[in-house]
Amino acid sequence: MAGVTLREIVKEYGDVVAVDHVSLEVQDGEFVALVGPSGCGKTTTLNLVAGLLELTDGDILIGDKLINDLDPKDRDLAMVFQNYALYPNKKVYDNLAFPLKMRGTPKGEIAARVRKTAEILSIEHLLDRKPKQLSGGQQQRVALGRALVRNPKAFLMDEPLSNLDAKLRVQMRAELKRFHQEIGATVLYVTHDQMEAVTMADKMAVMSGGVLQQYGPPDEVYRHPVNVFVAGFVGSPSMNLLRAAVTAADGQGALRGTEGWLHPLSPANARRAAASSGDVMVGIRHNQVHLSREERPGWVETRVYTVEPTGDLTYVHLRLGGQLLVASADAEWRAAPDDRVWVEFDQGSLHLFDAQTELALPLADAVASGATVGSARAMATAG
Ligand SMILES: Nc1ncnc2c1ncn2[C@@H]1O[C@H](COP(=O)(O)OP(=O)(O)OP(=O)(O)O)[C@@H](O)[C@H]1O
Ligand SMILES: [Mg+2]
Repeated sequence: MAGVTLREIVKEYGDVVAVDHVSLEVQDGEFVALVGPSGCGKTTTLNLVAGLLELTDGDILIGDKLINDLDPKDRDLAMVFQNYALYPNKKVYDNLAFPLKMRGTPKGEIAARVRKTAEILSIEHLLDRKPKQLSGGQQQRVALGRALVRNPKAFLMDEPLSNLDAKLRVQMRAELKRFHQEIGATVLYVTHDQMEAVTMADKMAVMSGGVLQQYGPPDEVYRHPVNVFVAGFVGSPSMNLLRAAVTAADGQGALRGTEGWLHPLSPANARRAAASSGDVMVGIRHNQVHLSREERPGWVETRVYTVEPTGDLTYVHLRLGGQLLVASADAEWRAAPDDRVWVEFDQGSLHLFDAQTELALPLADAVASGATVGSARAMATAG
């Protein structure tokens, strides 16, 4: 295995800049998930690494070797596509064995590796069948197996689980993660499902409009999104984002929402907000919104829009002027539409972004430790 390095890579299709100066380092043995909405440039990035597309600009290295001009077949990468193609006339066994035969692997070793791969993917019982005798999900696992059976420098995977049903996808997620850990595989994995990224990857790279927005461990990206886009993209349900002006009330820093609501700020958050252009986007996750059925000083009045019990907890959708806000409460929490509920945002977990630049307002020294306090409190609330 080897690491993969992208340096300022660019891909233009006429006027469309599909990949815009993306730099990324995937360490040897690391599982990196490339996530972002449809059309953000994930597949293009992967195809550039694979050599299926030509770079407009920038460099790609595998290990410390520059591979810009290397033929795809000489890059020693194994690819899995969303739209897989199996050899229809070959049995599953031979489909899996084919990439090894092509490389002149001894017969005994082929048999051992095919068996091991089939075991990982739970397709041992299908080895004698032809592809048309398999379900769609089984075919996709064989396609995955054809990549996993090899021992390449790195694996490139483009939404390899997207054709599987929800239950199988969760199971395969676990299998892929174990496979990665067992053989220390370098994996660059494309998905639009941020849940897959969060659960499997060592690091996630969030893209939007061809631009890399943030790169880091999922936990860090979740807790410290660098801008409004990442804040809204990572996490489910999505982070609540409200536009507000920075103001003062009762001699204390406060936020005034576009809808007229007023929410006080802790001194540390007031200092952060003061560094903005005057307007901010406030980000607050569902589990950091405190709820009260009685009016309380400094709390914001909302109306219940709808209540969603999930079994484990209850999602409460609230109307705040023209905006919807989602909060979570314990499993038994119930309310009727239009009930009045007061909310307070947890000061330690408040995200603040400048409304103009959409960039996170930096945590000042005092706030930096507040971030840890905030997450500890979140866990306490969740438990
Ligand atoms: N051959 C092409 N010619 C022109 N534009 C292209 C071509 N291929 C891709 N694009 C454009 O480049 C951008 C990135 O496409 P890409 O396929 O990389 O997106 P993606 O992130 O993989 O999306 P999805 O999640 O839908 O698969 C899109 O705007 C797309 O329309
Ligand atoms: Mg794609």
